[in-house]
Amino acid sequence: MSDSTEITYSTSLGESESGEDIQLVPLHRHNQYTEDCLDMLTAHWKMKRETELLKLQDSVDDFPTSLVLLKYSGDGRINVIGYSRLKTIPFKEQAIWIEKVIINTQHRGKGYGNILMDRTEEYAHKRNFKSAYLSTGFQHNFYTKLGYVLCPSNDPIQAWRTTAPMYQKNWLYPLKQQSSLDD
Ligand SMILES: CC(C)(COP(=O)(O)OP(=O)(O)OC[C@H]1O[C@@H](n2cnc3c(N)ncnc32)[C@H](O)[C@@H]1OP(=O)(O)O)[C@@H](O)C(=O)NCCC(=O)NCCS
Repeated sequence: MSDSTEITYSTSLGESESGEDIQLVPLHRHNQYTEDCLDMLTAHWKMKRETELLKLQDSVDDFPTSLVLLKYSGDGRINVIGYSRLKTIPFKEQAIWIEKVIINTQHRGKGYGNILMDRTEEYAHKRNFKSAYLSTGFQHNFYTKLGYVLCPSNDPIQAWRTTAPMYQKNWLYPLKQQSSLDD
């Protein structure tokens, strides 16, 4: 399903703050950002640090894959501003499961969530997945704006993964936001 080549995605924010660059990278190839991801995830979801750390350390090219959204400032600083995790779905080869989508609190409401989802989908698309599933209790407006639709409650993936409402999106490419693929 995947190759061993690193795929990173860069996009200029343009309309947001000129000069900034955003990049989505696999955590296992940039594990210096593990602690920042851990802080962000455990602050929001209140799970045990040790448990979540094991999940972050599980990240591999062949899934599960942890993805980190980095923001490069003009002064050379690099900040972790978002995170998402991809998992395969055992009985649905061409679909990917997206979870733990998060933007750091101080960066919310500025369009980074859209960018994180766009780049996450692009990462999965590049690995030949054709659609994505996710579940959410409270953020359905965020996902439906991005084209996700509510799945029927008898969808087999629902029983496999979650009791929360589940959403699905088939990807139509090319993407709205073009990015350069450096692989
Ligand atoms: C959900 C989350 C990732 C959105 O990130 P964000 O950077 O604030 O989102 P953006 O600024 O890119 O907003 C994208 C769009 O979604 C909308 N949106 C974002 N959060 C929303 C919410 N809670 N309810 C309704 N609309 C929302 C924005 O208005 C915006 O709409 P627009 O494109 O028409 O302008 C962020 O709020 C977050 O990390 N929340 C905590 C973790 C979480 O709940 N994750 C989801 C788990 S299912």
